[in-house]
Formats: sequence, structure tokens, C-alpha cells
Amino acid sequence: MKRNLSTVFWLSVWVKKYFWSLITLIVIGSVLSLLRVALAVLSKALIDGAVEGVWQQAVKACLSFVLVIVAQIILKGISTMLSVNTLENMSNQMRNKLFHRLSHMRWLDYTAYHTGDLMTRITSDVNIAAGGLVRAVPEVIALTTGVLAAVITLLIYDPVMAAYALLLGPAAMLAGYIFGSRFIVIHEKAQEAESNYRSYIQESLEHILIQKTFCREEAMEQNLSRLQETKKKLVLKKSLASQITSTLVTGGFWICYLLVFGWGAYKLYKGLISFGTLTVFIQLVAQVQSPFMELAGTLPQAMSTFSSARRLLKLEGEESEKQYLKEVKLDFSSIHLEGIHFSYKYEAPVLQELFFQIQKGEVIGLIGASGEGKTTLIHILMQLIEPQKGKMFIQYRQEVWQTEASLRNLIAYVPQGNTLFSGSIAENLRIGDPDATKAEMLMVLKTADAMDFISKLEKGIDTIIGERGIGLSEGQAQRIAIARALIKKAPILVLDEATSALDTETEERVLRAISNQYKGITCIIITHRLTLLQFCDRILELNKGRLYEKSEISSTYVSEALGG
Ligand SMILES: Nc1ncnc2c1ncn2[C@@H]1O[C@H](COP(=O)(O)OP(=O)(O)OP(=O)(O)O)[C@@H](O)[C@H]1O
Ligand SMILES: [Mg+2]
Repeated sequence: MKRNLSTVFWLSVWVKKYFWSLITLIVIGSVLSLLRVALAVLSKALIDGAVEGVWQQAVKACLSFVLVIVAQIILKGISTMLSVNTLENMSNQMRNKLFHRLSHMRWLDYTAYHTGDLMTRITSDVNIAAGGLVRAVPEVIALTTGVLAAVITLLIYDPVMAAYALLLGPAAMLAGYIFGSRFIVIHEKAQEAESNYRSYIQESLEHILIQKTFCREEAMEQNLSRLQETKKKLVLKKSLASQITSTLVTGGFWICYLLVFGWGAYKLYKGLISFGTLTVFIQLVAQVQSPFMELAGTLPQAMSTFSSARRLLKLEGEESEKQYLKEVKLDFSSIHLEGIHFSYKYEAPVLQELFFQIQKGEVIGLIGASGEGKTTLIHILMQLIEPQKGKMFIQYRQEVWQTEASLRNLIAYVPQGNTLFSGSIAENLRIGDPDATKAEMLMVLKTADAMDFISKLEKGIDTIIGERGIGLSEGQAQRIAIARALIKKAPILVLDEATSALDTETEERVLRAISNQYKGITCIIITHRLTLLQFCDRILELNKGRLYEKSEISSTYVSEALGG
């Protein structure tokens, strides 16, 4: 119930935003409905004039008929243009709002969704919700106006006829009520099936190499067919529900139509009405009933609007993460994490009672077995995730800053894995600094030891690379990712297995160049390779959720690694 109320509220906010456009659409729609009734009345004047030989009346009616039709055409044109324009504006604004919400969502909440599901919500659900508001709502109101006008006109001519024509109203309402609630559930399930289907296609194409090398092409196609089948069943179910509604209403329409026709024919036979009056009756009955029928057709659309709005509302309701400081050049003296405790949902703690301190200019080596929580610790430091216990603060000259405003902008991060975007190498570097000059780009690429292969490329830094760095070797992609971090000029550099694909010689060259070029930079190097520890002032080992200082044995590590 509460969810339904908030969905209605959510929809009403959008109605408010586009109030005047929607009102104009409603007014035009209603005028069009009234013009249809006017056409019925005019046709009576035309036929009566012709039958009785009152040519002046017939010609006048004929001219008005033409005028009404021209007005209808013009108004329809205006309404279509306005409706398309409003729909585009509303859906774009909905999408922008969702996009903003997604990019500011807390990391763990975000990762709980599949990107395919998010894509479905941001495309299909937005189309349905905005389409419903811009098309279905004005249509329902305009149709109701048409029904009322036709009923009043019918009442003026013949109350019995009006009663016959209105027989259908309650039947349509009942059908709508019975199938409506069921329809919402089916539509929501169908949208979920659509999400699963899109997610599968997206993921299969993204990992096509794995599918191919594991010879899974056939299995992949079978899975796709299975998902299609589930989706098809729900789409058919949805269609059946709306078909049943409209069949009931259409059946009712014909019964009412025959009743009116019979009643009219009887009155004509008795000489109680003119031929023109019978025509207007029949047309007006259609004016009453066709809107009811259209309402029956619009009903599923309105229901879909509601359940898609519910899916969008769920995303909009996700909490935002804390804002981070925009300026980068914050001159801190140390960063402290105290008594940090963190566990992913319902799982054993990854970090517990953890104390971590880093002084400006220190180079820290962070080691620990795979899965011990090194990346998690960095995510906490970057405030991508929030610890359940403990505090984090920055010592800034004499002041202590609680880090409600995140440390994120102080850190240049090279994450694990391939994180390049499709586009040119230069475009990838501009993610680190949108205003970077070519000279700056070449400099960071040189430091990251990437110039040796880039200079051999015909288009140099303008070479286009594919999704997730396709076209480059793993080690080349890693070096560009390092250059992207360096160009940010942040005071802290975090390398999370950033050189794992490089040979030891290149790896050492990169690290040496960084320590020469960026003297005084604070650096955290996460690595499984002990040779890198020679670049570190301190070594910390993460073990069972706690950090241990390893500096006293760092020389052993290094010498072991160097074979000493
Ligand atoms: N989003 C998540 N949800 C639930 N558990 C997670 C999530 N991300 C990581 N974990 C778990 O947290 C633990 C620490 O993971 P983390 O990625 O921090 O390890 P790591 O030390 O960086 O490992 P590696 O050296 O392999 O990169 C692992 O047991 C992992 O399964
Ligand atoms: Mg990791």
C-alpha cells in the first residue's frame, strides 16, 4: 500500500513538472472528442436537410462538416508534435535523473544490480512510464470528456438510448478492475524477464572469448532460447490479460450497438424519429462506446506505467554516497584509519580492529594472501564502501579533518584488471585530467614506460582502442592505466596489482621512473611480487582482517626475492 502511494506520488511529481504541456494535450484531446460529437450532430442536419429537401440546411451542415474535419486534422497534428516533444523531454529528464542517481549510488548497492537490469530500467521502463504519462493520461481524460459529451447529447435526443449505450460502462470498469491488478504483477514479471534476457545477452557478448574458448556457443544459444521462452510466456500472458479485457468490452459494445440499432429502427418504423436522428443515434453510441473500448485498451498501458514507475522508484530510492571534495590539491600531513571493522552483507568480517596510518610522502607496500581484503581496504580508504565500525580522519597541518568529505579526490587509483574505455589512448588519459595537454600526456606515458609501444603506433596517442582495452596487450593496457592515474596529479597514488602483467624488468623501470619523477608522492603498492617491496618505506601485511607491520623483515623479503 505504502509502495503504491509512493508510486502515485512519484508519478504526480512528473505530472507537475510537465503540467502545462499535459494540460494542453488534454485540452486538445478533449476538443477533438467534442468535435467528433459535433460531427455526429452535423451529419444529422446534413441527412435531414437532404431527405427533406432543405438544401440550405444541408449545404450549411456540409460546410461545417468540412470545417470541423480541417480543425480535427490541424489539432491532431499539433497534439502529435507536442506529445512527441513532451515525451522526449520527459524521458530524457527521467533518464538523466536516474543516471545521476546511479553514478552517485553507494558502491555496494550499485553492484547488487546487474548492468543489464539497470539498462532495462533506464531504457524500457523509462519509455513505458513516460509514455504512459504523456499518452495514456491525457488520452483517458480526453476520452472521458468525449463520453460525457456524447451521453449528454444522447440524453437530449432519447434517454432510453443513452441508457442502452451506457450499459457498457460498468462492464468495462469491472473488467478493468478484475484484470488490472493481475496485469500489474504480470507486467512486473515480464520486465524482470526482459532484464534477465538483456543481462544474458550483454554478458555473453562481453565474455564471448570465454564462451568461445570453452566451446560454449551452443550452450549459449540454448540458454538464450530458454530465457526467450520465459519472456515469451510472460508477454503472451500479458497480452492475454489485455485481450480478455478488450474482448469483454468489444462484446458488450456490439450488444449495446444492436440494442440501440433495434430501438432506433423500431422508432423509425413507427415514424417517431427521422432518418437523420437514427444516424446521429448510431454515431453517438459509437462516441460513447468507442472511448470505453479505447479506455479498455489504454488500461493495460496505464497499468504498465504504474509498475514500470515502481521499478524506477526503487532505483531512485537508493541512497546516495557522501559527497567528496572537488579540489585535489589538499595538503595533508597524514591519514588515519582507526579500529576499522568491515564485513560484506551477512558474511564473516573481512577487516576487524584494523589500524592504518600513512604519512605524507610514504611509500607503503601492502601485501597479503589473495582474498585477505587488500582491495577492500583501498575501497574503504576511497570511501566507496563504509566500514561498520571505526573512524577515518586526515591530519591537515594542525587540524584534524573527519573525512565526511571523501579522500577520493586525493587518490589516483590504478585498479586491478583491465579498466580502459573504448576510444583513443588520449581520451582514456583525459579521464584522469580533462584539460591535460599533449606534452603532459606524453610525459606520463613515458613515466609509465608506455612510449616504447605507443611511438610505434601509426596514430600514436590517437590510436583507437576497443572495449576494455581490446587491441592492446594486458601489460600495455596496465601501463596506460598507470599513466591515466599519474596525469590526475593527486597526492596519493594507489597501485592495486597495477603491474602484475608486466615482466619484472619493465615493472621495476616503471616503479623507478615514478619514484624519480614524483618525489614526495604518497604511494600504496599492493602486490604479490616481493621484488617491488624494495621501493617501499614500510611493508604492511593484511592477515585475517588485521594489519601487521613488516618493516623489520622487509629486507628479508627483498633479499629473498632478489635471490640474496
Ligand atoms: N562485493 C563483494 N561482496 C561480497 N564479498 C566480497 C565482495 N568483494 C569482495 N568480497 C570478499 O571479500 C574478501 C576480500 O576481497 P578483496 O578483493 O578485498 O581481496 P584482495 O586481498 O584484494 O584479494 P586479491 O589479492 O585476490 O586481489 C574476499 O573473501 C571476497 O570474497
Ligand atoms: Mg584485490
